[in-house]
Amino acid sequence: MSPSTETTTQLKPWKNLLCQHSKSSLFSPNNFMKGILVICIFSALPLHLYFSANFHGLIPDGCPECTPAFGRQAIQYDHHGRTNISHILFGIGGSAESWGQRRYYCQLWWKPHKHRGFVWLDKKPNPWPETSPPYKVSSDTSRFKYNCGDASRSAVRIARIVKESFELGLKDVRWFVMGDDDTVFFAENLVNVLSKYDHNQMYYIGSHSESVEQTLTHSYSMGYGGGGFAISYPLAAELVRILDGCIDRYADFYGSDEKISGCMSEIGVPLTKELGFHQMDIQGNPYGLLAAHPIAPLVSLHHLDNFQPLFPDITRIDSVKKLIKAYKSDPSRALQHTFCHDLSRNWSVSVSWGYTVQLYPFLVTKKVLSIPLRTFATWRTWSQEPFTFDTRPMSSDPCEKPVVFYFDRVKDVRNKKTLTSYKIVDDPNNETRCEREDYTAAYLVKGFKVLAGFLDPQVWNKAPRRQCCEIMNGSDKPAGVLQIRIQTPPLRS
Ligand SMILES: *[C@@H]1O[C@H](CO)[C@@H](O)[C@H](O)[C@H]1NC(C)=O
Ligand SMILES: *[C@@H]1O[C@H](CO)[C@@H](O)[C@H](O)[C@H]1NC(C)=O
Ligand SMILES: *[C@@H]1O[C@H](CO)[C@@H](O)[C@H](O)[C@H]1NC(C)=O
Ligand SMILES: *[C@@H]1O[C@H](CO)[C@@H](O)[C@H](O)[C@H]1NC(C)=O
Repeated sequence: MSPSTETTTQLKPWKNLLCQHSKSSLFSPNNFMKGILVICIFSALPLHLYFSANFHGLIPDGCPECTPAFGRQAIQYDHHGRTNISHILFGIGGSAESWGQRRYYCQLWWKPHKHRGFVWLDKKPNPWPETSPPYKVSSDTSRFKYNCGDASRSAVRIARIVKESFELGLKDVRWFVMGDDDTVFFAENLVNVLSKYDHNQMYYIGSHSESVEQTLTHSYSMGYGGGGFAISYPLAAELVRILDGCIDRYADFYGSDEKISGCMSEIGVPLTKELGFHQMDIQGNPYGLLAAHPIAPLVSLHHLDNFQPLFPDITRIDSVKKLIKAYKSDPSRALQHTFCHDLSRNWSVSVSWGYTVQLYPFLVTKKVLSIPLRTFATWRTWSQEPFTFDTRPMSSDPCEKPVVFYFDRVKDVRNKKTLTSYKIVDDPNNETRCEREDYTAAYLVKGFKVLAGFLDPQVWNKAPRRQCCEIMNGSDKPAGVLQIRIQTPPLRS
């Protein structure tokens, strides 16, 4: 199966989906099935924006923006050394009922003796898999207000995970990282991204939704919970102090992440956007998005149960495993995009390292190559557009489509280099072939081999810049396999 938009054409009625939400997986699929219809955020947002000051109880006491970090509690923690995985405490929003299914994603990335954190559940599970992170049962939240109609009150419980995690008082925690039970984190890259920031300052780091219909309904300025967000220790200390009040003040906000962002507004800390956190509020085929990753390390993927598998012809879980295999061999380079042109044939090649290669048997500018192909649709209404980033249509004309190759395997070669191979999954058949001469030559290519040096994680502490590649001559061995070399310029100090 090649990337296509076929499955994305089905239109869903907008009104049935108003509160169908992306964030906590606790909320989406089941509630969607039950047909929950809540419109609180639609009606509530303008109220908050324009009239909330008139409503008793909506304004916090005092001035949270003025409280110095650690104003109330002087907490000792390690100020020294580069941030590593031990400095992160994960808080994963789960439920006893859904964990049986969701644990498979978590187990793909969670390393029992390396990672610190808990899955927070609504009740005691029975039994608990040994390969899962340890669990905690959240405390009772029935005393809090929740005014988002029939939507799930578990948003309150999940919003409080950061507080309950903080109050465990674990040593040397620099960052609290929140995620859903269907979030896959790429932990080395997460650490690398967080290590850019001074954990002694107040930081709220994450990213927003891909679908404009989501950002309009919820927010452009919050860290979406499924993509995951990170809160530095001093900010968590302040958040914990006011969180319970926020939960009541933002009682008509749908999701846990929205309630947290309400609190962040009171503290006065904006979201620092990092483009590697992926909420994945999309439907259909994620191919186009992952084949054109922004120039930033891959930190998370979410909603893997909601769209098609990342690779054709294998299951969702196996797809993620495959991507992780490439990722492990060179974390910083995973999904990094490079382009090369062969001017002797006028070919354009786009490489998304560890995922896919696209071959166009004509010249395509780098600007166009950098834009994701729209193989996917928006989250709630399955519309073609709009997204919160540029997209370009995937043509149905075989004479405009790229010939697509998918990641197959990776080999570590000597001197800190990797050799990844990509193969064609579906030979274009008679109906989907372009009969033009330039395509006939392109169809003879059966695969690519890409040689690249390890990408030094320090690259991501410098100004971001795409790397370039070149197509090697005369080494078509085995027949029909093109060799590409990604150039890795030395780091400037
Ligand atoms: C992380 O750094 C701390 C020092 O801040 C050190 O004690 C700890 O062993 C390190 N952990 C890992 C996994 O490197
Ligand atoms: C490549 O494209 C250029 C400009 O479009 C054209 O002049 C040239 O003849 C083409 N070369 C080949 C080998 O097709
Ligand atoms: C379909 O393709 C095969 C080879 O791929 C070829 O042998 C056959 O003649 C084609 N059929 C038609 C109707 O073009
Ligand atoms: C490949 O050969 C062409 C001429 O045939 C040359 O212009 C180009 O620089 C060569 N590329 C590499 C990577 O050697």
